[in-house]
Amino acid sequence: MSKVFNFSAGPAMMPPAVLEKAQAELLNWQGLGTSVMEVSHRGKYFMEMIAECEQDFRKLFNVPANYKVLFLQGGARGQFAAIPMNLANKKGKALYLNSGHWSSTAIKEARNFTQVDEVNILNSDRTLRVEKMDFSDIAEQYDYVHYCTNETISGVEIFDVPNVGNAVLVADMSSDILSRQIDISKFGVIYAGAQKNMGPSGITIVIVREDLLGNARQETPSIWNYEVQAKSDSMINTPPTFAWYLCSLVFKYLLENGGLAAVEKRNLAKAELLYAFLDQNSFYKNYVAAENRSIMNITFTIDNDELNAKFVAEATAAGLQALKGHKVLGGMRASIYNAMPIEGVEALIEFMKKFEAENA
Ligand SMILES: Cc1ncc(COP(=O)(O)O)c(C=O)c1O
Repeated sequence: MSKVFNFSAGPAMMPPAVLEKAQAELLNWQGLGTSVMEVSHRGKYFMEMIAECEQDFRKLFNVPANYKVLFLQGGARGQFAAIPMNLANKKGKALYLNSGHWSSTAIKEARNFTQVDEVNILNSDRTLRVEKMDFSDIAEQYDYVHYCTNETISGVEIFDVPNVGNAVLVADMSSDILSRQIDISKFGVIYAGAQKNMGPSGITIVIVREDLLGNARQETPSIWNYEVQAKSDSMINTPPTFAWYLCSLVFKYLLENGGLAAVEKRNLAKAELLYAFLDQNSFYKNYVAAENRSIMNITFTIDNDELNAKFVAEATAAGLQALKGHKVLGGMRASIYNAMPIEGVEALIEFMKKFEAENA
């Protein structure tokens, strides 16, 4: 088979070295003569694996000691409900910053559990730009302030952390976790589905400051209760063992390849290459302001539905997969998460040049 580059927004490509390792030890994990998915999650080997996995994740992402790291199920959408169930318990209201599809989906779910005040932080012009970042005057009236660091569909990323004074800041980092270094101490809770930068779908990481545990509403199901899960090694029910194992391999792989400083450098180089091409070109357009251009999901369009469809079909045939934009936005989207090599971006640019020459 000729070389394929997979630009899927999620589940997304995994580092090939990780898949090869998983393949090599699939039938005989740890010399046990069985695979990792066939052993007890409470057995010695699995418990050792998850302890090391958490240590590696903490090291990689520089997680402070006063935070718990939970490995849960139910995806980021599960957390859209778990966040208010665990946190909206003192003032009974939360502030949500709306920057697009995923933050508004989180708002809709949160309204089932608490009073939500919403601030639109995205301007409404053709060029998408996040405008308001200082909420220190109002934030403390709320149990927490929620935002999404990277809107996967539009390719809008928020690099500066909003100012919320001493209020609890909660972030959905599903599509940019582990893509760059951040100061975790500014956050009360960070959550993310694994399926973009950490592993396969089926596992969700929640990083929660310890002082926020123990306040869940009475009716909170145990699987969504952060305190219960923290006390049970994230195993109040049978965990997604194979997904957890694959995440552990991804964290090791990233640590062995320079950690997040090196990851961030590679990600910036890839994104700059593609945006530089888009900027010197008038055939393809990207409608995100420079300061909010995602380094993970790069959206572009030819502003012509027929040509967009032709582009996607011909790109797929050329081995450049999953470039179709999300149905709510149309156009194209190149998701270039950690595992995408720079050669994938170079191949995409070469294809874009060729397509323009044939169709402009
Ligand atoms: C930013 C963001 N939040 C939430 C979700 C929903 O994630 P899940 O399917 O894990 O519930 C996605 C999925 O793509 C996402 O990109």
